Amino acid sequence: MTQSLLQQLREQTRPAHTALEAQPMLTRLLSASLTEEEYCQLLQSMWAFYRSLEPELVPATAALLRQHPNPEYRYLPRAPLLANDCRVMGCACPDLTYPSIEPRLDGGEAQLLGVLYVIEGSTQGGRFISRHLANTLGITGDTGASFFNIYQWDSSWAAFRRWLSTDMAIRYQDDYKSIIEGADRTFSALHAHLDRELTCVLQVSPEQPCR
Ligand code: HEM
Repeated sequence: MTQSLLQQLREQTRPAHTALEAQPMLTRLLSASLTEEEYCQLLQSMWAFYRSLEPELVPATAALLRQHPNPEYRYLPRAPLLANDCRVMGCACPDLTYPSIEPRLDGGEAQLLGVLYVIEGSTQGGRFISRHLANTLGITGDTGASFFNIYQWDSSWAAFRRWLSTDMAIRYQDDYKSIIEGADRTFSALHAHLDRELTCVLQVSPEQPCR
C-alpha cells in the first residue's frame, strides 16, 4: 500500500529526528539535573536559529498561502516567543543573525513544506519537554517556557497536517522527494547549529569567535 505523505515524512526523517534528540544540548534539556543556566543556553541557541530563519520563512510561507489559500493554517513566529522566554528567564539574546544557518529557503515551495513540517511537528516534542521543565525547574508557559508550550494554545500543527494531507499532498504529488529533502535539511541544519552553539558554550576553541 502506498504511504501517505505524512507517513513518508515521519518514517524517512526518523533517523534525523532520533539523531537530533541525542544532540547533547537536547539530552541535557531532558536530564533530571538540568540547570537554569543550561536551559537559558538552549533558549538562546533556539532563538538564534529562528531569528536567522524567520525573516525568510515568514514571507515565504505567506506567499505560499497566497498561492494556495488555507483558512485554518498560519505560521506562528517562534523568535518573539523565544526572546520573551529569554527575558523572563533573565538571559540576554544577543541581537545577531547567523548567516551560516541552513537551510536557505531557496529550494522552492516543496522544500518549504518540508521545513514547515519540521517546525510545526516539533511542537509535539514540546508536550513531553514542557512537562519535564515544569517538574525539574518549575518553569511553565507563563514563566519562561512559552516556546515549549505552544501545543497548549496553538493549533497550527493540526491545521498544517490537514493542509499537508489534503490540498498540498495532491498539488505537490510529484514533489514528495523535495518535501522530504526540505525536512531532512531542516533537521540537519538545527543539529549542526546546536553543535556549533555547544562548542561556543564549552569554549572548546576560544581562539575562534563563535558568533
Ligand atoms: C529532546 C528533544 C525532543 C524530543 C524528546 C522529541 C519528542 C517527540 C515526540 C514524543 C513526538 C511525538 C511523536 C508522535 O506523536 O508520534 C515528536 C514529534 C515530532 N518532533 Fe520531536 N522531539 C524532540 C525535539 C524535536 C526537535 C528539536 C524537532 C525539530 C525542530 C522535532 C521535530 C518533530 C517532528 C517534525 C515531529 C512530528 C512527527 C510526525 O508526527 O510526523 N522534535 N517529537
